[in-house]
This record gives sequence, structure tokens and C-alpha cells, in this order.
Amino acid sequence: MLVIIKDDYQAVSKEAAQLVANRLLTKPNLVLGLATGSTPIGLYQELIRRCRQDGLDLTKITSFNLDEYVGVPPDHPHSYHRFMREQLFDHMNLDPRHVHIPNGMAMDIEAHCEWYEEQIQRAGGVDLQVLGVGANGHIAFNEPGSSLGSRTRVKTLSHKTREDNARFFASMDEVPRYAITMGIGTIMEARELLMLVTGESKAAALRDAVEGPLTAMVPASMIQMHRKAYVIVDRAAASLLQGEHSASISEASLTRRRL
Ligand code: F6R
Repeated sequence: MLVIIKDDYQAVSKEAAQLVANRLLTKPNLVLGLATGSTPIGLYQELIRRCRQDGLDLTKITSFNLDEYVGVPPDHPHSYHRFMREQLFDHMNLDPRHVHIPNGMAMDIEAHCEWYEEQIQRAGGVDLQVLGVGANGHIAFNEPGSSLGSRTRVKTLSHKTREDNARFFASMDEVPRYAITMGIGTIMEARELLMLVTGESKAAALRDAVEGPLTAMVPASMIQMHRKAYVIVDRAAASLLQGEHSASISEASLTRRRL
């Protein structure tokens, strides 16, 4: 696990976009795992900018999103389908057949979750999975206490997560109670992880994830078990870290700091 500390959110987004761009150079048909939420928006904006200005090409990728609310139709303003269209997909020419987001309206949710796992396998597995972290240490919607080997399934959202996400809805009552989410086991099978953590409100979760004990109560701590994980954070999020960390991926490789 390599923790990279950047000055601010913008620098985190640029470093993350550079890593994605590097992987696209070696594999244009990258299988990219995507996250929603506020954190990766800067990364997506930077990728869009690079596509327009630098000729970065995402048209051949296959994507798999981490999660979607149950009972929220794809066109709902707060669905993750809609979020991804607005923040990324509408700005580039992706093949819709290669874009995957769990369907929160599936009639048979269990069968749908199995199908989703099969699609990931059929695509050859996720090459690079983008992750955010909840203030309670969740990854995707794997809330504290989730099984560390879990697969795609329905999870009940914790009160804290519903409160945190209430900012996107008119009232707390409207915040969904359930979500379909890739499991921790599913996420851990990605060949590389790219976790982004920004802002003071995430400082304790980041400390627990990268310097705390491995525990199901902090699902993000599983990142310590991954063989190739990058954790790119800003100074505010890093304020409680004690370990020595690098300022960029290139600096880390110069100082021979290992993943
Ligand atoms: C969303 C997801 C969640 C978020 C987390 C942080 O697809 O998987 O785990 O990454 O809730 O959300 P923000 O970035 O809004 O703080």
C-alpha cells in the first residue's frame, strides 16, 4: 500500500488522473472500477479535460460501478446511474454495452447481484478500482461489520451513511435504506486499488484504514491486505497519520518505497 499525500483536493484529483492515464497507455481496454460520491468528481473532471485537451482515450474501457441505491430508478436525479452520466459518461464516447452499474430496480436482486459478479469475471476482472471512503470507514456500501470476503449483494445503509448522504436529498426520509454494493471480497480481487480520501472529516477514517488494525468494523482497513493499492489523500485527510509517506507516485518509486 502506498500512501501519497498531496496539498489539496485538486492535486489529489490530478495525481489520480495521471495514474489512470498511465494505465490506459499500457491497456486502452482497461477494466475500470468506478465510484460515486463527492470525492472522485475532481478525478472525473480531470479525465474529461485530458480527453478533450490531451487526446486521452477512454472509449475502449469497460466500467463497473461499485454500487446503486435499491428502489431508485436510473433516471432519478439522485441515482448513481444519473450521477455517472452527468459526471463522466455524457462527456465521453463510451460504448454503453461496456458500462455496468448495479440495477437498483432489479426484480430479482439476488440473481442480479450474481449476474453482476459474472459480468466482472467475463470482462477478465477489474484492472483498477477507484474507491472513496465513508466517514465511518465504509468502502462502496460495505458498512462497518460487513463480511471481509463478501460479494455483490444488498446492504442496509447505516444511520451515519444515510445522514452523510442526506445532503443530496430533500429530506432524511427520502434517503434510501438499502443499496446493492460490490462486496469487500469483490473489491479486493481488483488488480489495483486507487483509494482517494480528502477533507478533515475523513481524517479519522483514513487513519483507521491505513494505520489501524485490520477489522470488519473499518472495511477500508482491508486495503492493507491488497498487493497493489494506492491511497491518494490531501493534507487535511492526512492530518492524523503518523507514518512516513510520499508526495507523489514518482517520488515513491525514486525512494524505492514499496507498495
Ligand atoms: C460511492 C461509494 C461510497 C463513497 C463514500 C464517500 O460509490 O462507494 O463508499 O465513496 O461514501 O463518499 P463521498 O466521496 O461523497 O465522501
